[in-house]
Amino acid sequence: MKILLTGGSGFIGSNFVRYVLRDRDDIEVVNLDALTYSGNPENLADVENDPRYTFVHGNILDIELCRKLIGECDAVIHMAAESHVDRSIIDARPFVESNVLGTQTLLDAMRKVDPDNAKTFVHVSTDEVFGDLPLDRPELKFSEATPYAPSSPYSASKAGSDMIARAYHHTFGMKVMVTNCSNNFGPYQFPEKVIPLFVTNLIEGKKVPLYGDGRNVRDWLHVEDHNEAVLAVLEKGEPGESYCIGGNNERSNLELTHAILGAMGKDESWIEPVKDRLGHDRRYAIDATKLKTQLGWEPTRSAWPAALESTVKWYVDHAEWWKRVKSGAYRGYYEQQYVNR
Ligand SMILES: NC(=O)c1ccc[n+]([C@@H]2O[C@H](COP(=O)([O-])OP(=O)(O)OC[C@H]3O[C@@H](n4cnc5c(N)ncnc54)[C@H](O)[C@@H]3O)[C@@H](O)[C@H]2O)c1
Repeated sequence: MKILLTGGSGFIGSNFVRYVLRDRDDIEVVNLDALTYSGNPENLADVENDPRYTFVHGNILDIELCRKLIGECDAVIHMAAESHVDRSIIDARPFVESNVLGTQTLLDAMRKVDPDNAKTFVHVSTDEVFGDLPLDRPELKFSEATPYAPSSPYSASKAGSDMIARAYHHTFGMKVMVTNCSNNFGPYQFPEKVIPLFVTNLIEGKKVPLYGDGRNVRDWLHVEDHNEAVLAVLEKGEPGESYCIGGNNERSNLELTHAILGAMGKDESWIEPVKDRLGHDRRYAIDATKLKTQLGWEPTRSAWPAALESTVKWYVDHAEWWKRVKSGAYRGYYEQQYVNR
């Protein structure tokens, strides 16, 4: 099987490429990535010469390129997106462009080159499309039946892209599936996100900026568990269905911060409370029963403290990588475009 993966030079995508090349010798991957600020060729330097891997530098908004690449592949896994909530609060435009228009462009490209709907399209999305849950009702979790209620420009753009994906299945009969996943952690995450930001700040002798009261809860899933679930959906999922992916691993930001401080041998004095994020969602939690009962998937790599500690160690051991990323050496042309707006 030849998969067109969009956004393969980012955090989750680069881990997907490495996972598939390692564990599945029957799969080839073509990675289409625009190399925005979070797309980094160095994330895949160790596999760039693998005969089952091809990199194409391009944008999902380029419909001719998408048609050509989808025509040459058996399936699409769509991960390319603007992915950081804080950036969407500063400027939502690139989020609507890449996440909504980009998804529609890819689906239109697929419709043209696959009129018999032989190919499969997995749209990788987030649990943030469901809005948030109260802190005092631990029994409540998101499932595939939860209505969409996104709160940030990021989650609204992902919700829009999910709706487009579902509509193309309903209207044109395309084999589209949607995944809604909780927060990922693991190697090669851009150090604007909380875990690599906190670890690298501590190594640099800086405090860790904790939003608000730190009580916000997230369900943490190891990136390789996520990628295994995405592949299970591609191979065994039902067209038109969506699947919630979670880690059974709910933690408050304060708990996460203490765990990182503990792993780094630091005390509470390294926490710097900062003004809360605008519109900050309180709690996300996933009920992944459908994925377990229908596709036989369960997380096996996400349990704390071991999984978090090995991720912290990865950043400690890969200072050259994140120092270059933090210094902006891998800022893409797209980043430059919207910084200059
Ligand atoms: N990180 C998480 O915790 C998480 C959780 C659930 C879902 N997701 C979803 O998973 C996907 C990947 O997230 P990530 O954390 O790896 O993000 P990331 O920001 O690390 O990577 C995104 C990648 O997409 C590329 N890209 C962006 N716009 C593009 C465009 N217009 N054309 C081509 N390439 C483009 C970037 O260059 C980058 O390589 C996203 O769709 C995100 O919404 C992420």
